[in-house]
Amino acid sequence: MDVMEAIRKRKAVRTYTDKPVPDSVVDDLLRAALAAPTGSGSQAWSVMVIRDADVRRDVADLVIAGGAKYFAAMRPQRDLSDDEHREQCEAYAEQILATYRLAPVWIAVLLVPRDNYPPSMKEGGYLDDLISVAFAAENLMVAARAEGLGTVPTTAFQRFEKDRLRQILGVPAEVDPVLVTPLGYPESFPEGLPAALKRSFRTWKTLVHDDQWGNTRDGGEG
Ligand SMILES: Cc1cc2nc3c(=O)[nH]c(=O)nc-3n(C[C@H](O)[C@H](O)[C@H](O)COP(=O)(O)O)c2cc1C
Repeated sequence: MDVMEAIRKRKAVRTYTDKPVPDSVVDDLLRAALAAPTGSGSQAWSVMVIRDADVRRDVADLVIAGGAKYFAAMRPQRDLSDDEHREQCEAYAEQILATYRLAPVWIAVLLVPRDNYPPSMKEGGYLDDLISVAFAAENLMVAARAEGLGTVPTTAFQRFEKDRLRQILGVPAEVDPVLVTPLGYPESFPEGLPAALKRSFRTWKTLVHDDQWGNTRDGGEG
């Protein structure tokens, strides 16, 4: 699969099989991740490969529980009690994310501060490091897609449980596990957009501006 096809076909995969992923394939993906551009050449990142069954289960449980909290925050409560709403969101998270527990590998992409920016550049340097981590993650996800492997960058749970994730992975406080993704062979890849997103998703022509802001390819109608 060429790079354009892999980029276009990469989709957030939320159902996994337990089919093993060869170590050599994982290594190729890690090297692709770490070939990303890195602000100031800092390499303020690390990638963790999580294969141990207990650690994987703990990460999957955490991400599924985080998903439930995300749904609880995003979905209207209507006339449900707090407990009913929470239980409904937990059941929904289980329903759509339970196969995260089957994925044979999880990957964490971490921001590791290198303390190589002067005080006047600390904030900008942090942002550069975070952007670099995102580039690394995207490289990995696109390369994974080319190998027929699914991924989904999960961060929502971290707003609730990042310290617990650090504890599970033995990550020190100064290191930021920015995102984790399952890595596994899905039954199939999603195509197109989920119905809920389709209605509101902007087309590329509304997002491209030629020369001056507002001069979009759809003639500014988007
Ligand atoms: C910064 C970031 C955080 C995300 N966090 C989550 C997450 O916590 N859980 C999840 O299921 N998907 C997460 N996603 C995946 C997005 O929901 C997904 O990329 C988006 O809906 C578009 O779908 P696609 O990736 O299939 O094109 C995240 C994506 C990004 C870029």
